[in-house]
Amino acid sequence: QLSEIGIIGMGVMGKNLALNLAAKGTALSIYNRHMPGKEEKIAEKVLADNPDLQQVRAYDELEGFMESLESPKKVLLMIPAGAAVDQQIEELLEYLNPGDILIDGGNSFYKDSSTRTHYLQKKQVVYVGMGVSGGEEGARFGPSLMPGGEKAGFVSVKPYLEKIAARDFRGKPCVSYIGPEGAGHFVKMVHNSIEYGEMQAIAEIYSLMRHYLQLSVDEIAAYFQSWMDSDLSSYLLEITVAILRKKENGEPLLDKILDQAAQKGTGGWSVATALEFGVPYGVLSEAVMARNLSARKPFRMIASGLYHPEKISGIEDREAFLQKLQAAYQATRIINHDTGFSLMLEVSEKNNWNLNFSEIARIWTNGCIIRSRLMEELVDLFQESSRILLNPEAVAALKSYQSDLSYVVGQALQHGFPVPLLSSAINCFLGAVTANSPANLIQAQRDYFGAHTYQRTDTDSGESFHTEWKDS
Ligand code: 6PG
Repeated sequence: QLSEIGIIGMGVMGKNLALNLAAKGTALSIYNRHMPGKEEKIAEKVLADNPDLQQVRAYDELEGFMESLESPKKVLLMIPAGAAVDQQIEELLEYLNPGDILIDGGNSFYKDSSTRTHYLQKKQVVYVGMGVSGGEEGARFGPSLMPGGEKAGFVSVKPYLEKIAARDFRGKPCVSYIGPEGAGHFVKMVHNSIEYGEMQAIAEIYSLMRHYLQLSVDEIAAYFQSWMDSDLSSYLLEITVAILRKKENGEPLLDKILDQAAQKGTGGWSVATALEFGVPYGVLSEAVMARNLSARKPFRMIASGLYHPEKISGIEDREAFLQKLQAAYQATRIINHDTGFSLMLEVSEKNNWNLNFSEIARIWTNGCIIRSRLMEELVDLFQESSRILLNPEAVAALKSYQSDLSYVVGQALQHGFPVPLLSSAINCFLGAVTANSPANLIQAQRDYFGAHTYQRTDTDSGESFHTEWKDS
């Protein structure tokens, strides 16, 4: 009997997706290339470590692996993004037949997925670039899946994807065809961008609670836990509570972790994409910049010795400030999400991808890292509005929270605590809802030094004007 699906790459995600598919009764072949100089056969080890697995065959050479698959062959790539994917595709082409389906489930850059879709189309291989979210546990017990590329490819593998995906709050699988070309990986990239923003927001709020209000980690965990009972509930907040409660020899483990945040690219790619498409993206850019800044620990150590930045703590009415922090967090989360979805809106329109935001929010209500109560609310909201900021409920919420966000940012800065994401959130929000900006002055300056011309507010002719600014 031939296998229904083959998985290439037995790293954390590949292995767990394999276990998930196998648990759902799928006949599988798994492959991991043989590591030069290593005795161990990685795919075989997966079998050895999981003796209950049935209908799973392990390979460390491609030919036997590909021959074990039923036709049309369905191959899921779970290997590191970048050159490795192109290399693997080239090797696979020898064994792929017209109509076979290749799915890339890594965190590939979406433009690479668009290129690969077109390249493989010429070879009559059906390509599906698929975002996969949920980390190790998600992959094993139910990820959120964002397949894009050729729809026919998605249709062929849909039953398998639906079997392994998480269930949304209404019981439907968290998988949906996203759109053509690299749309699946694009949406996953924006998911990660929002993920960076949500993580940074929690980190800044934690920092203010810990160092400004001087609460203990257990007190902070208790506050965050109480927020979990409100519409602030989210997976990232939930894991933060667990992290804060983790002790080593009675001390918070958190205090032993070096404050240098790593990143694998998706957050920065989103910023680059926002620049390319001219989308205002300050708040989520700030989450990437904060990670970049954190990575410069040696510089920060030297500079802090020179500036001794003064931090004044513990002078607030704690309870009142905590309430404002909660409101500030509510506002920031709405602004974060609006920013990510506005990037998707722009790119979808420019590429004619026709992204369905309500459906994207739906498949993000479970399985993925940014699942939250807010995401559940967005499923309905996007049926009425394409911009969160223009939705009446969001307007009411932001109107009631914005002054608390401003207050929190003001206090934080006054007392010497950096809050780049929170302050960018209020700035981006105020900028977005201000009808008349000082960009008229920018236009005048451009015209002054470079004759770049400007348009006038007292005519709608669309005409360009230039002024001789210097009195001769
Ligand atoms: C997910 C995550 C995942 C991501 C890691 C690390 O949705 O499961 O987004 O895909 O790769 O969280 O990302 P960074 O290393 O860039 O933080």
